[in-house]
Amino acid sequence: MTPLAQPDVHPGLDSPLFRDLVLAERPLWTPTQLRDLTSTLANTYAATLQELVRYTEPDRWWTRLALTRGVEIWLLTWLPGQGTRPHDHGGAAGSFSVLHGEVVEEHRYPGAPIGVRTFRTGQGIGFGGDRAHLMRNAGVGGEARPAATVHAYSPPLLPTREYQSLEEVR
Ligand SMILES: [Fe+2]
Repeated sequence: MTPLAQPDVHPGLDSPLFRDLVLAERPLWTPTQLRDLTSTLANTYAATLQELVRYTEPDRWWTRLALTRGVEIWLLTWLPGQGTRPHDHGGAAGSFSVLHGEVVEEHRYPGAPIGVRTFRTGQGIGFGGDRAHLMRNAGVGGEARPAATVHAYSPPLLPTREYQSLEEVR
């Protein structure tokens, strides 16, 4: 991929501070660095991100917050019942942090047991490139409320791969 000469930044978020945060010169981010990035965004930039959030159905809503040579950053929303199919990120390392609400993630590294975890506001995780997962807003009934999450992937722009089931991840 040709490195981007300038990072592409969402106009609703653009500032010198934000551009410092996305480290345009860093070519590759580790899972820990990605987790710290989405955690900082979901916490320090929460008010700004809340203003960008939209909800759509049946398809989920998302917008790209930034693209540099080393990382892509997305803001996603999840109405109760909305979720993904099982997928990986084409070998990219990744992370996500919850801006608000609650999401359930099922994940699997090849050959390992399937793990399930609920992530609440402010919580997040970084993960390596061989990991597959699915995510959903499992809220039902009177407790149901929308969720929003910030995601980052490095290297950027790798196509995801979908699975019928996490059982296929071997
Ligand atoms: Fe994903």
